[in-house]
Amino acid sequence: MDMTSETELRVRKIRYGTVIDHITAGRALDVLRILGIGRDCKDVISVVMNVPSRKLGKKDIVKVENRELKPEEVDKITLIAPNATINIVRDYKVVKKERVSLPKTFKGIIRCVNPNCISNSPREPVQPILHVYSENPLRLRCHYCGRILELEDVLRQLSSG
Ligand code: CTP
Ligand code: ZN
Repeated sequence: MDMTSETELRVRKIRYGTVIDHITAGRALDVLRILGIGRDCKDVISVVMNVPSRKLGKKDIVKVENRELKPEEVDKITLIAPNATINIVRDYKVVKKERVSLPKTFKGIIRCVNPNCISNSPREPVQPILHVYSENPLRLRCHYCGRILELEDVLRQLSSG
């Protein structure tokens, strides 16, 4: 057992939904942005930040009730929280636990930051393709123009819109 019992004193178990656990400490709010969770949200959301974790030292947790995540949402979470686990909960039980893993390539999820890149041309319907160039620190490289994106560039465009 991680130090989960510690956490459970803070946030109770959920009946249905998704628990995103082992989020890099401090990134929970970015996870909410990725999921498009803002002031209009009607579902029950629990956010725990900087709780002790044996594996990570400190971690964040986000619990989203009554919702399972889309694959592109999982891919975006991978970019900012490479150690996250996605737990699908049904009737209080974890029925699926998925350790996220960074894809080699992101297609159509993140845009190149070079305004002159062909993937940003309004006349060319070219889908952005970025390759993972380095994992730690995170760097992506544009398939078309070779521009390198840093984590900050990625964070700036993460809201699910
Ligand atoms: N959880 C929850 N509601 C449930 C079941 C689980 O909120 N009905 C949460 C737990 O609090 C934990 C996460 O989902 O944060 C994963 O649960 P579980 O697999 O039971 O915990 P661990 O075995 O400690 O997970 P891991 O091995 O991934 O650390
Ligand atoms: Zn480019």
